[in-house]
Amino acid sequence: MSAAIETRGLSRRFGARLAVEDLSMTVPERAVYGFLGRNGAGKTTTLKMILGLIRPNAGAVRVNGIDVARDRIGAARQVGALLEAHGFYGNLTGRENLGLTATLLGLRKAEIDRVLEVVEMSADADRKVGGYSLGMRQRLGLARAMLGAPPILVLDEPTNGLDPDGIADMRRFLRSLSERTGATVLLSSHLLGEIEQTATHVGVVNDGRLVLEGELARLKADLAPELIVRTGDDTRALSLLLAHGRSPVAAEAGLTVALRPGEDPDQAAAAITRQLVESGASVFAIGPRERSLEDIYRRVAGFRSSLAEAA
Ligand SMILES: Nc1ncnc2c1ncn2[C@@H]1O[C@H](COP(=O)(O)OP(=O)(O)OP(=O)(O)O)[C@@H](O)[C@H]1O
Ligand SMILES: [Mg+2]
Repeated sequence: MSAAIETRGLSRRFGARLAVEDLSMTVPERAVYGFLGRNGAGKTTTLKMILGLIRPNAGAVRVNGIDVARDRIGAARQVGALLEAHGFYGNLTGRENLGLTATLLGLRKAEIDRVLEVVEMSADADRKVGGYSLGMRQRLGLARAMLGAPPILVLDEPTNGLDPDGIADMRRFLRSLSERTGATVLLSSHLLGEIEQTATHVGVVNDGRLVLEGELARLKADLAPELIVRTGDDTRALSLLLAHGRSPVAAEAGLTVALRPGEDPDQAAAAITRQLVESGASVFAIGPRERSLEDIYRRVAGFRSSLAEAA
């Protein structure tokens, strides 16, 4: 798989503040890449450098192989973008605002109708944007990003300002987007759960540095496997397992037990069940624990748990 977006050693300072530092990210073609980080971590700054809207102090960006510093216009043609500030004209209608971009891109009117339909804004398209809610502006912004069906979409916090139904719709939409259109999507978020629900790949930025990157499924698979055990008396089971040389941890869903290196999960489950039952404890359920993005996070050095809590 070749890269749709590639940054190498990207850095940007604002005065004395280093907003992005030596950041190298790779967004594979057709990925939905979740770019995750706390407020002020450097997400928007990175996305703006990818879009050629601000210049890096160091490093390079390639978009579908095109160097953004060398050919900004050529690179921009590959990308549709949704940023925090939409820059819509409030005294024009949604359709008219899209018309401005469509004219610049040399697109037909039918393309405007198409994208309005995709974001379910056809009914409100002839109202002035000044009277739009934040969520409606966000949808219109997404429609504008999709004009001309660019192969890459860069979306900065696309669920910002949406109500719970709108968030669910947007997440579903983003998940299906690359399947339906073949587009590569790079989206930022400060919410773990959001990335977990939409992304195939994840990059975590912390204080301007990329601290983790990879395919979500693979990152999960790389974690040491654990079992989760539900018993009739967790306190007792905990000491029994300790006595058998295990290191159980009490969690909400039961006791989690890490497997020994190379240990077969089924064999371990059978052994643990036997040990507990032979000691008179009742085992309600035992099985492999589903790993989450949060588990991956906890492995990242220097990660503070505020992100996990925000999700
Ligand atoms: N134009 C600017 N002038 C000065 N400092 C800036 C500017 N833009 C960003 N910064 C600083 O750079 C850092 C990264 O900001 P950035 O907007 O990239 O973060 P972010 O991850 O997008 O945060 P958020 O989740 O709040 O949108 C912050 O410390 C911010 O204050
Ligand atoms: Mg931002």
